[in-house]
Amino acid sequence: MTVIAHISDLHVSTADFNEDIFMQAATEINRLQPDMIILTGDLTDHGYYNEFEQAKRYLEVFEAPLFAVPGNHDSRNLGYQSFEELIGEKSWKLTLGDEFTVIGLDSSSPDENKGHVGTPQHMWLEHQLDECVINEQFSIVALHHHVISIPQTGRERNVLSDAGDVLKTLTTHEVDLILSGHKHVPNIWRINDTLAVNAGSLCSSKLRGKNKNSYNVYNITDSEIEIFLNIVGGEKFLFGKFPRNTL
Ligand SMILES: [Fe+2]
Ligand SMILES: [Fe+2]
Repeated sequence: MTVIAHISDLHVSTADFNEDIFMQAATEINRLQPDMIILTGDLTDHGYYNEFEQAKRYLEVFEAPLFAVPGNHDSRNLGYQSFEELIGEKSWKLTLGDEFTVIGLDSSSPDENKGHVGTPQHMWLEHQLDECVINEQFSIVALHHHVISIPQTGRERNVLSDAGDVLKTLTTHEVDLILSGHKHVPNIWRINDTLAVNAGSLCSSKLRGKNKNSYNVYNITDSEIEIFLNIVGGEKFLFGKFPRNTL
């Protein structure tokens, strides 16, 4: 079984970041011993260089390999440069054994809230996904902005501006999991054979209604994908269970 922890929207800052909740979440995730941690953006609140320095120190608490994409907040105030310097590449591809491919996309634009994948990155994505189909790999695509509107999040303003085209590429290539954050509300949408899963905010006080800080855990076996919603310091429950999409 492959175990992936999905965290999002830390918003490291002097205002809305809760260190105690972060440390609690990190302890829980380290105890789970996941194969990897995927962080879908908004590591910082303003994209300030010192927020990235702090975020980098916090992320070092995690024991599993962690891969992050930037969010809209990370691309403020030249944060897109700080992200590359202190965290890593903004878009990337990694493979886990012969069977898994994880692709990270940068959906952020400098000082803008709306998301955008853009033509060059989209073409690169298509090429990578063609290879996943040929090699029959389990494929995961991580990006900050949601590709489909999330319920209970009010007026839609920030879905990807090229969501239709991106969604078509992801679903026609039968991507297994699309992982996003941004709205701070956990959710699962199933479109054809693709699951689009949103994570809540791990440790920011920017929460909607009665939502609590949370993270998602994916247990992936040859036959199924179990998705757990873990409330930090609280209940852990099965959020969804789906048969594996066998090509
Ligand atoms: Fe956020
Ligand atoms: Fe965001």
